[in-house]
Amino acid sequence: MSDSPLPTGQPECRILGIESSCDETAAAVVENGRVILSSVVASQVDLHAQFGGVFPEVASRQHILTIYPIIEQALRQAHLDLTDVDGIAVTRGPGLPGSLVVGVNTAKGMAMGSGLPLIGVNHLEGHLYSAWLYKADNGDEIPAEPEFPLLALIVSGGHTELILMREHLQYERLGGTLDDAAGEAFDKVARLLGLPYPGGPSIQKVVEQGADPSHIQFPRAWLEGTWNFSFSGLKTAVLREVRRLEESGVEVPVADLAASFQEAVVEVLVVKTLKAAQEFGAKEILVAGGVSANQALRNAFQTRSPLPVHIPPIWLCTDNAAMMAGVGCFRFHAGQRDELDIDVLPNWPLTEL
Ligand code: KG4
Ligand code: ZN
Repeated sequence: MSDSPLPTGQPECRILGIESSCDETAAAVVENGRVILSSVVASQVDLHAQFGGVFPEVASRQHILTIYPIIEQALRQAHLDLTDVDGIAVTRGPGLPGSLVVGVNTAKGMAMGSGLPLIGVNHLEGHLYSAWLYKADNGDEIPAEPEFPLLALIVSGGHTELILMREHLQYERLGGTLDDAAGEAFDKVARLLGLPYPGGPSIQKVVEQGADPSHIQFPRAWLEGTWNFSFSGLKTAVLREVRRLEESGVEVPVADLAASFQEAVVEVLVVKTLKAAQEFGAKEILVAGGVSANQALRNAFQTRSPLPVHIPPIWLCTDNAAMMAGVGCFRFHAGQRDELDIDVLPNWPLTEL
């Protein structure tokens, strides 16, 4: 397949995307795998903040309440009726089973009612394809398409994966986290520092208000000779330091500890990704997933990488449906059509695609 989303001369393709894998209910319409005609995201963050994390039962109930209005809004914003789109892409996994079921069942019902093709898509693949997207109407320069072979780092709340993409829709997994995902580490460390959920943005905020990242040298798990990551030792080191200070009656320097933690995570992610890119002869680097919204991580990649780095705009880093519609377009053109009896796949690795 060529780098272009559409072989020249093919008709345009518009896909409605539906995403409900975790705590965002989202719908979007994307044209030709790149152009966002609309993207609507209803975040449940406020609902889950009181629990300090995503409460699965609450998440699925909330998806049920909001999914249809969100889809209607996405179509309305794109000035389209359902009959104007060519297919419906929906996240089958990975994610929370009860949350995924809401999106998948909604998509199946709509596909059955309209006769439109149904395309089940992988959430991680969606994060990768967010790097191809841009907004139809913002007048900005059209961002360049990532070029293969690409070394991709996915960093989200549930995943930390190093992936080699030699062409569209093809994934070689080089490694991943052996314990906590990068986003999970941000969330857990924020919680033990007394910062609000979600932890990533809270840590970034407190650090940006003024903090010393060299306050303490937290351990880095390099796991030499592998492309794997580990963040649980780092999390435990932060916990130990907080306990030590509390027991000795010293005030915990929250911002400095947050900055030192963030620095350790960023350093390992950047150094290992750049090393893998060099080793596998990648032309470019792609960073995606919720943690790629982190400004320190973005800056570190941009300043340290000898290769071009693609990181989606911040609003496309965290969960959304535009990325699912985008990858849905690529899969639609590759001929994927799913039966109406597809089920959710809560643990669906990229390598099984
Ligand atoms: O991709 P995402 O929205 O959902 C999953 O697929 O998991 O990622 C959510 C994760 C959370 O752990 C959140 O704390 C983290 O991304 N995150 C950040 C930032 N914004 C979101 N981590 C660090 N810095 C940020 N600015
Ligand atoms: Zn995600």
